[in-house]
Amino acid sequence: MTVYLNGQFMPIEEARIPVLDRGFIFGDGVYEVIPVYSRRAFRLAEHLQRLQHSLGGIRLQNPHSDVEWTKLINELIARNTGEDQYLYLHITRGAARRDHAFPKPPVAPTVFMMSSPLPTPPAELLASGVGAVTAQDNRWLRCDIKSIALLPNVLLRQMAVDAGCAETILIRDDAFMTEGAASNIFVVKNGTLLAPPKDNLMLPGITYDVVLEIAAANGIPYQVRKVAKNEVINADELLLTSSTKEVLAITRLDGKPVGDGKPGPMFAKLYKLYQDFKRDVMRQQSPLPTGEG
Ligand code: PDD
Repeated sequence: MTVYLNGQFMPIEEARIPVLDRGFIFGDGVYEVIPVYSRRAFRLAEHLQRLQHSLGGIRLQNPHSDVEWTKLINELIARNTGEDQYLYLHITRGAARRDHAFPKPPVAPTVFMMSSPLPTPPAELLASGVGAVTAQDNRWLRCDIKSIALLPNVLLRQMAVDAGCAETILIRDDAFMTEGAASNIFVVKNGTLLAPPKDNLMLPGITYDVVLEIAAANGIPYQVRKVAKNEVINADELLLTSSTKEVLAITRLDGKPVGDGKPGPMFAKLYKLYQDFKRDVMRQQSPLPTGEG
C-alpha cells in the first residue's frame, strides 16, 4: 500500500508524523473520502470543492490547487492496485508547540493521502438491507465541515454496532432528522423521496447530490425540506447514502421493520439508476494521464 505524505509517496509502514501534529493533539484538520471506479476518481471536482469548503471552515489555506490535487490523486491511484479504490485525504494544521490558538507564524500543514480497496456493500446486504437505530444528534453546529474530529460520530456509530445494526440515524432537538453517523439519510413516503436541506447541521454528501440529480432526471418525486422525527419512524422506506456504501436500504429501525421490512421499490429504482449513472459518467471521462509521451 503506497501512501502520500507531505510531498512524497512511500509504503504506509514508512509514513510518520510528529506527535505534536495538531491533528493528533486537537483533531485540528479536515478530510475527504473519494471513491475510485475503474481507476478514476468519482466526482472529483465536487469532492475538491467540498474540501475547499471544509478548509475555509477551519481557516486553513488549501495547500494545493485543484490541478495539483488532481495530479497527486491520479498518481496515488496509479501507484495502488485495484480498479475500484477508496481514497482518503487528510489535512491538518501541522505540528507546533501545544496551544489551542493557531501557530504563529503558521507552520506547514500535514497532507496525507491513502488508498484502500473500496468496500461497497455485498449482494446479501443489498438484498436484505441493514438495521439502524435512532439517537440524539449531539454534535456541534458545523457538521457541514468534514472535520477529522469524529469522536461524536464514533460514539454514535458504535451505538448501532452494539445493537447489531449498521448505522445510527441522528435526530436534532428531538424534532427532525439530520443524517447518519457516517452517511446521509433519505425517507420515502407515498412514493416521494424526502431529503433534509444541506445546511450547517449535516455534511453535504456527494452521493446525496447524485441521488437527487438522478431523481430529478428520472421523474422521481422528491422534496428537499426538514424531515420530522415522526416521518422517519413512519417511513415506507429509509435509504442511506455515502461514498463507500453508495445507496443502501435500511429495513429495520430501532428493532422494528421499516415498511414491510424488505428493500422497497424506491431503493430498487435508485440503486439501479445509481449504478447506471456511475458507469455512464466513468465512460465519459478521458483516461488517466499515464505520464508517457
Ligand atoms: N463519510 N454524513 C457524514 C457524517 C459522513 O461521514 C458521510 C461520509 C456522509 C456521506 O457523504 P458522501 O456521500 O460524500 O460520502 C454524510 C465517509 C464515507 C467516511 O467518513 O468514511
